Amino acid sequence: MDSPAPKFVPLVALTAFPVGSARAFEVGSATVALFHTAEGLFAMDDHCTHSGGPLSEGDVRDGVVTCRWHGAAFRLATGRSAGVILCRPTRTYAVQVRAGWVEVEEP
Ligand code: FES
Repeated sequence: MDSPAPKFVPLVALTAFPVGSARAFEVGSATVALFHTAEGLFAMDDHCTHSGGPLSEGDVRDGVVTCRWHGAAFRLATGRSAGVILCRPTRTYAVQVRAGWVEVEEP
């Protein structure tokens, strides 16, 4: 049996969220960190799995976001731990652009 197609929620106009942008959005009961890098748009839970730091405020480089609180790092594409502090993966969300809006999969 096929699972239902995910629903997407519009967050921000693409023109207002250029490459280099990162920001947290409240989506239902979740806080989602949205990133726009040269590699594309990525979304993941904003709360670092180490101790809850805001990943949307982390340093982004080479497809990895590094939490500012203690340095845990996560791959934007997969949410997997990528640094010396091993943490459980953070949840990622599908992102799409439709009619000029960046949309994220409903958590
Ligand atoms: S809360 Fe993110 S590294 Fe500790």
